[in-house]
Amino acid sequence: MPELAYVNGKIMPISEATIPIEDRGYQFADAVYEVIASDNGKLFCLDFHLERLERSMVALHFPAVSIESIGQAIVSLFEQAAIPRAAVYVQISRGVAARNHAYDASTLQPQIVMTVRPIHEAPAASRENGIRVLAFTDNRWGRCDIKTVQLLPNAMAKQAALDAGANDAIFVSKEGIVREGTSSNLFIVSGGTLFTHPLTPEILPGITRRVVLDICRKLRLSVVEQFFTLEEALAADEMFLTGTIAEVMPVVAVDDEPIGNGAVGEISRKLYAELKRRMREEGDIACPARSTL
Ligand code: PDD
Repeated sequence: MPELAYVNGKIMPISEATIPIEDRGYQFADAVYEVIASDNGKLFCLDFHLERLERSMVALHFPAVSIESIGQAIVSLFEQAAIPRAAVYVQISRGVAARNHAYDASTLQPQIVMTVRPIHEAPAASRENGIRVLAFTDNRWGRCDIKTVQLLPNAMAKQAALDAGANDAIFVSKEGIVREGTSSNLFIVSGGTLFTHPLTPEILPGITRRVVLDICRKLRLSVVEQFFTLEEALAADEMFLTGTIAEVMPVVAVDDEPIGNGAVGEISRKLYAELKRRMREEGDIACPARSTL
């Protein structure tokens, strides 16, 4: 089960993988990325991740890169690593050039790097008892719907939360609207109805969010994509984060205020169980049809 890296078509041990120092991803965060998880040897929702990767590249005016060939490279790296429970990281930068804010699109060649590694599972206690998060004012740029490697606000907020003894951070707008987690989307359950932020430039259109919405419909749970405030979130019965690595992670406190009765709620448990079932048993087939995106 080797951890492997891929750099522009070549596969090697991660420790041997290098990129030029003038890669624009390194100097300007001029790169997009995806994280794809597998469970039970099956990559989950690969098509959706490829579709979002393409969308991110179009949004940043990257030249067209064959999404099919990237998909094949991901599958081939994943199969070669033979890690049943893996995270595949894929990053595409605009290219390598002498440092200059402006770029000459005609001479740049997108650089594709990947890694595949085992997923370190969240502690069982987090899944069983839920996690505690801190709310931070959202200081990110206005295009959080593009999955760029420009993640400093996310990294700083996460670290500040850990340093303060919490497990993660959530972003709240200056006006008090709850956006999302540092690497996850956010749902609340209030009076039996689920609420999550609508797809706007302020949040990432999460793949797990999409799958969870589909599960809700199949389970006939009432769900609305609607803004809600931190105040409303604090009054909710349940809260959970969704993400490729977080999966469905219950949140039991925000800024030391308990959510609901401070224990993991029934709906959070049910959604986690169904997500895991889909991941383990169905892999890509579990993902709702593209037409529902
Ligand atoms: N992050 N919101 C943000 C800001 C994210 O970074 C992520 C994922 C999500 C959830 O998206 P998805 O369900 O497609 O994973 C929402 C990845 C996992 C990361 O940065 O590691």
